[in-house]
Amino acid sequence: MSMEKVYLKDYEKPVYELSTIDLEFNLDDTKTLVKSKMKVKRLGSENQALVLDADEVELKAIFLEGEELHESEYELTSNSLTLHNLPKSFTLEIHNYINPEANTALDGLYKSSGIFCTQNEPEGFRRITYFLDRPDVMAVYTTKIIADKKKYPILLSNGNLFEKGDLSDGKHYAIWKDPFPKPSYLYALVAGDLGVVNDSFKTMSDKDIELNIYCDKGNESKCSFAMESLKNSMKWDEERFGREYDLDIYNIVAVDSFNMGAMENKGLNIFNSHYVLADSDTATDTNFMGIESVIGHEYFHNWTGNRITCRDWFQLTLKEGLTVFRDQEFSSDLNSRAVQRISDVKALRERQFVEDASPTSHPIKPESYIQINNFYTATIYEKGAEVIRMIHTLLGEENFRAAMDLYFETFDGQAVRTEDFIWAMQEKSPFNLEQFKLWYSQSGTPELDISSVYDKKSKTFKVTIKQCFLSPVNTEQKPYFFPFKIALLDNKAQELNLILENNSSQILLDKNILIISKEEETFVFKDVDATPLMSFNQNFSAPVKVHTSYSLDEYAFLMANDKDEFNRFEASQTLASMVLHKIIDAVESDLPMSLSPIFVSAFDKVLKDMDLDLSLKADMLTLPSVSMLMQDRKVLDVEAIYIAKNFVKRELVRELGADIKGQYISLINTKEYSLDSKEMSKRKLKNTLLTYLGALKDSGVVKAQYDNSNNMTDRLTALSVLANSRENAKIDALTDFYERYKDNTLVMNKYLAVIASSELKETPANVLKLLDDEIFDIKVPNLVRSLIGSFARNALHFHAVNGKGYKFVADKVIELDKLNPQIASGLSGVFKDYSRLNDNARNLMKKELEKILSTKDLSKNVYEIVSKILV
Ligand code: BES
Ligand code: ZN
Repeated sequence: MSMEKVYLKDYEKPVYELSTIDLEFNLDDTKTLVKSKMKVKRLGSENQALVLDADEVELKAIFLEGEELHESEYELTSNSLTLHNLPKSFTLEIHNYINPEANTALDGLYKSSGIFCTQNEPEGFRRITYFLDRPDVMAVYTTKIIADKKKYPILLSNGNLFEKGDLSDGKHYAIWKDPFPKPSYLYALVAGDLGVVNDSFKTMSDKDIELNIYCDKGNESKCSFAMESLKNSMKWDEERFGREYDLDIYNIVAVDSFNMGAMENKGLNIFNSHYVLADSDTATDTNFMGIESVIGHEYFHNWTGNRITCRDWFQLTLKEGLTVFRDQEFSSDLNSRAVQRISDVKALRERQFVEDASPTSHPIKPESYIQINNFYTATIYEKGAEVIRMIHTLLGEENFRAAMDLYFETFDGQAVRTEDFIWAMQEKSPFNLEQFKLWYSQSGTPELDISSVYDKKSKTFKVTIKQCFLSPVNTEQKPYFFPFKIALLDNKAQELNLILENNSSQILLDKNILIISKEEETFVFKDVDATPLMSFNQNFSAPVKVHTSYSLDEYAFLMANDKDEFNRFEASQTLASMVLHKIIDAVESDLPMSLSPIFVSAFDKVLKDMDLDLSLKADMLTLPSVSMLMQDRKVLDVEAIYIAKNFVKRELVRELGADIKGQYISLINTKEYSLDSKEMSKRKLKNTLLTYLGALKDSGVVKAQYDNSNNMTDRLTALSVLANSRENAKIDALTDFYERYKDNTLVMNKYLAVIASSELKETPANVLKLLDDEIFDIKVPNLVRSLIGSFARNALHFHAVNGKGYKFVADKVIELDKLNPQIASGLSGVFKDYSRLNDNARNLMKKELEKILSTKDLSKNVYEIVSKILV
């Protein structure tokens, strides 16, 4: 396999175009016959060959204009089929075989526990048949599926059902037609013996849409939340973006073996069952929220992705960044905006900031790749969504909506570039977006230095903001253009009216949003009576890191008083991080640990604040994660971070334990379980407090919660707290949980993750044991992520000084690479901290990385990631 790079600058338009494709599948476990009949038009000159992509397909026959071709009339390699001297327009019919059962890569057509299904984005369709497998080649698809009627009563594909009927030998068929031209990556087929939940939706123009969610029989009752989410999504896209659904039917199928979360195939979404199935006994509140957002995300792709698609895969953020922005807004409108923002920014920091500081850092619009599958990253998705959010802030809701309307109107039915999107935004923007485009081409998280001076005599407050460029990638960075939301607070926490002095040239948008565009700029505010405190980057208006010289007291003040709820959370995290880093420093230099009383009292204030939204309160009382703390260490000493964090927890419980417990008890609910947002916030706070109570000597309350809970959120939190304790209660709860849920693979994922995430020293041994447990199957990605992935993200054990964590994960990467290269390469990303390790750890990891790279027939996927890490 070639490890060659593909470059954006090498893009060339397709030389052949398709109008229609008729597909016929004769489904068979190991030898499915695929017939494809395409109407083709040559766009280029006669001597330009038609080169079709292929992977793991076996050619049976080719017909040009109905005449079978002889072997000498085409060139066949394992990855292509080339035809020369073709007429201006012609029909091409290809017959080939594929083996769905052997398809453990879960890419193309495969079988997942008895169900035939497909995953074709980005380049899976070439594993079904010979094709121009690129997103700028669009065609109208018709599909005929032939299968055993008893084993596969349900036959589905894109679009609307056209015809179905019985055949001889117990077989039947269905014909589906999708009237909308689409690229091959949006193609889908499903066949199985499935249960279904049916509903309908009336669109804004009074069209009735049939809605179906298909799942394994017996799981129908777990689909109702997903169905509600679908209807909410359809309504929201009409109200907020004026977008209506365009087919007569919307099908969703839930499957257990799926590489990703879900896929937006036209009219036939295929979902990882994790993002469909839920009820109070088996799913946590976080699971429910995840379902709502993923159902929304895939639905919203119908306009941002399907109706308007990408010209090439370098444009991926065009559909993914924009659709993540849309699903974030959907969740914000349905739930709490501040809480949603906090959770989105947390995810951005934990996944994207880390990626952007690592050897795999790349711009949201990359210039090259070896394997496109590796670019479905936090950067393309989450940072991409932040870039759209900044445009939204700069334009304001009304202009943004007008610009989106223009985008839909202008490019409907086309495969376009991010430049086309920016063009539409520019048309309705009060600002020139030229400099803004750097967000698409530069990588790394921008860092800002903020300093300020108050002048008593002139009553001016001067703020200087400097962009510094610490990107890990060597490229020369130019200053960014972005909105920066601020407030100046007086000592009574009142917000001052912001009046800029005439000679500060900068622009203020909407009173409190500064427009930053230069490497260094100074804003002078006048009529300021006393030294104010600036609350900055409110609501996380730009995805940047900010350095200040604020004291603990100043952050404690913002934490208690900021009007911007997001920034109150932000201050809580900054304060906690400052305190924690000091303790980590102490641990590293063998000095005694001590916890700042400023932090304890700030924490206490939040704890006793009875006006705070409970969910926001829970977020503010949560310490920064180990992975967040790791980001700010130059050389990694993982154990010191755990020691410091556990020390802070114990100290907080020692000082405030009675209040924590009192409030915990006041939140115990005896009422019936409900998904209403108030109840969810209550559970979130209660469970946050429970994690502190786990640090008590006697953790009877934790076991009591496990025993008495009437929902998975409470039960799982108690279980994971117990899984880190040394008590007998731990064994009882784990055994109970396993026995109760061992037949439910989605719940077993949680069990595996709890065990693999434990800090206890027996964790590596437990993980090894579970690999052989009957509930585990290395071919199922969810199980791999839960057991092996959770262990690899368990920094304490992954970075074990004996190197066994590295060796274990490297061996699994090699084993998985033979089965499923996408899952293997996803896992190999955990080695990204390589360059920041101490000498001993780096040598141990190096050995493992070299072992991976020297593996025979290593996939491009893993090669690309590991070779980048090892430079
Ligand atoms: N188009 C993607 C699915 C996909 C991802 C296909 C990677 C091929 C490779 C889909 O719209 C998506 O983004 N799914 C996300 C969930 C989403 C809510 C961010 C996923 O699968 O993780
Ligand atoms: Zn997506």
